[in-house]
Amino acid sequence: NGEMREWNGPVHEVFSPVCIHTENGLERKLIGSYPVCTEKEAMESLDAAVAAYNNGRGEWPTMGLAERINCVERFTGKMIEQKDIIVKLIMWEIGKSVADSNKEFDRTVEYIYATIDSLKNLDRDSSGFEIVDGIAAQVRRSPLGVVLCMGPFNYPLNETFTTLIPALIMGNTILFKPPKFGTLLHYPLQEAFRDCFPKGVVNVIYGRGNAIVPGLMQSGKINVLTLIGSSKVANELKKSHPKVNRLRAVLGLDAKNAAIVTSNADISLAVKETLSGSLSFNGQRCTALKIVWVHRSKVDLFLSEFSKAVAELKYGMPWEKGVSLTPLPETNKIEYLNSCIEDAQLHGAQVVNENGGQSAGSFFYPAVVYPVNNKMKLYYEEQFGPIVPVVPFDDLEETISYLIESTHGQQVSIFSEDAGEVAALIDPLVNQVSRVNINSQCQRGPDVFPFTGRKDSAEGTLSVADAIRSFSIRSLVAFKMN
Ligand code: G3H
Repeated sequence: NGEMREWNGPVHEVFSPVCIHTENGLERKLIGSYPVCTEKEAMESLDAAVAAYNNGRGEWPTMGLAERINCVERFTGKMIEQKDIIVKLIMWEIGKSVADSNKEFDRTVEYIYATIDSLKNLDRDSSGFEIVDGIAAQVRRSPLGVVLCMGPFNYPLNETFTTLIPALIMGNTILFKPPKFGTLLHYPLQEAFRDCFPKGVVNVIYGRGNAIVPGLMQSGKINVLTLIGSSKVANELKKSHPKVNRLRAVLGLDAKNAAIVTSNADISLAVKETLSGSLSFNGQRCTALKIVWVHRSKVDLFLSEFSKAVAELKYGMPWEKGVSLTPLPETNKIEYLNSCIEDAQLHGAQVVNENGGQSAGSFFYPAVVYPVNNKMKLYYEEQFGPIVPVVPFDDLEETISYLIESTHGQQVSIFSEDAGEVAALIDPLVNQVSRVNINSQCQRGPDVFPFTGRKDSAEGTLSVADAIRSFSIRSLVAFKMN
């Protein structure tokens, strides 16, 4: 509610994935701490957001769009002033490289300005009347209420703000819980939130999600749940809302994006794209390629070229120039990745690249695993880390069946120089996923493009314009002529 509070309760110590040498070996470095709020503080924040919305009669939802844009622009100006510290915290909290951390920041600012530009083209407020069958109507974009906003650790700034800002700018009030890894980087923005928006419009809650979020949902006072994270958590949260039919959900969830490298692929292009597609930020992107199907006639060539390319990737600390492989923030991740490799080995696959799967401290060297089949965890599970499972195939039908049977439906990449072959694949695949990439890796951007998924991969659509629609409703003020 726009207040800074003293905190005497328990705190959570934040250990960086960046390790230091100690007498006990490599250890994560302590970089800060945050308050572990309880359900009590969370409910107080909720009350503040509900009061600020005041059934759509609060200062914020009734303020003109131009004024709200003004507030967001002022906030963005203050955010830009804090760029250096935010970028450093992205690097230290989640181990993202300096280049990618800067990119995450800049892309977020661009997204905010693009949202503002896009609003100017939307049919809100005084866009004029439309007269149809003797009825004159003014279309408005009205807010929805209180939005609970939770971003993921892999894009703690960007994926939070690409939902929070559109929700805010459309007149909703916000409860925002930062991700478990990627919390401290939101500290420098607290005062900007307080100074740029009316009281209670943005409420930041620090603490453990599983302790504070269920109570918020059970209150029935959340109108929109926006979460970029796991479909299991999203389903549990949705179910706990007493009036789930009145809850709007805007969700970016699990994905297992596949690459299909056909017998007609340009292998050097396929290697270049699948390398970056599967291993950028250590494979910790929802859009990462998480399984690669390669036609049996090209598989030896692909594996040897891909392994060579992995060996050329530089690993090191996030701030080192040209580094692409960095420490992993999730504390139990290496254990999980090892279990995936053991399971694959048990069912007949091997790590085919040199040093693949080796780890030290919070580093895990990428593992290329071959031949993967449907008995293995790596065939189905979203590993969300630096393992590249490769599956050989003889007939393209096998790849289509894989995508049909998958519970995920975000994106796919096809690599082929044969236009007829590509054309024949597009229709069956575009009905399984929400984006088909031809001769290029899967990715979210450019951010004006719709970003969504089928099946368990998403609910609602994000993009600059879609996000504005996701956090508002088109209402009419209509009157009959004569
Ligand atoms: O983690 C999911 C992100 O939205 C991926 O975005 O494809 O730009 O890395 P990206």
